[in-house]
Amino acid sequence: MKKIIIAIDGFSSTGKSTIAKQLAATLEYIYVDTGAMYRAVTLYALRKEYINAEDFSVNDLVENLDNIQLNFIFNEAQGFAEMYLNGENVEQEIRTLKVSDFVSKVAAVPEVRYQLVKQQQKMGENKGIVMDGRDIGTVVFPNAELKLFMTASPEKRAMRRYKELIDKGEDVKYEDVLRNVQNRDYIDSHREDSPLRQAEEAIAIDNSDMGLKEQFERILNLVNRTINA
Ligand code: DC
Repeated sequence: MKKIIIAIDGFSSTGKSTIAKQLAATLEYIYVDTGAMYRAVTLYALRKEYINAEDFSVNDLVENLDNIQLNFIFNEAQGFAEMYLNGENVEQEIRTLKVSDFVSKVAAVPEVRYQLVKQQQKMGENKGIVMDGRDIGTVVFPNAELKLFMTASPEKRAMRRYKELIDKGEDVKYEDVLRNVQNRDYIDSHREDSPLRQAEEAIAIDNSDMGLKEQFERILNLVNRTINA
């Protein structure tokens, strides 16, 4: 069967990765969560103290980009690939609110984007890939056969994220999660380099009031239509 590239973009916590993982498993495609890559670089910057609430030594981070090795390694039990930073599994640590608080700043650095986009394009060379992020349909794969743009209200997204973090045992307040979602929306869509925007040919899916099953079926239909076109 013809293999395609599926680009899924949208605001944070719109369920992109849930849908992308499900699609990849069904189609036997590779799944790449590009947000995890930006998060891993952010974790590196936090550990090296290049970034904190007051300061961001962009130059230090840029000079050390070559020392950051990112790999996805498939976890059979989980059914998806986990993020490794310089050989260490950081899948859990990159999802904390602390990393979320700094990731938009790191993702706005053009040199960081350049490096990661290059790696992402390489991963899609043979197609058969579902990639989610903010600039997949606009920058990484402008020729992707299928582009989706996921949206949902900030309050719904913050509530989903809040529940996820509480389930993981993080001690967070809903208001802080909502603020983080709104801040990231703003920074992600207003940065100069590759701001989050809907690609012209992208199909918008607002899942504020849509269940997972309904959403998945709708998207799978779009995929099948594209593959058989
Ligand atoms: O999808 P996520 O919430 O894990 O992404 C984390 C951050 O990384 C998000 O605030 C924006 C940034 N990002 C990006 O700029 N470009 C991408 N392709 C993916 C994520």
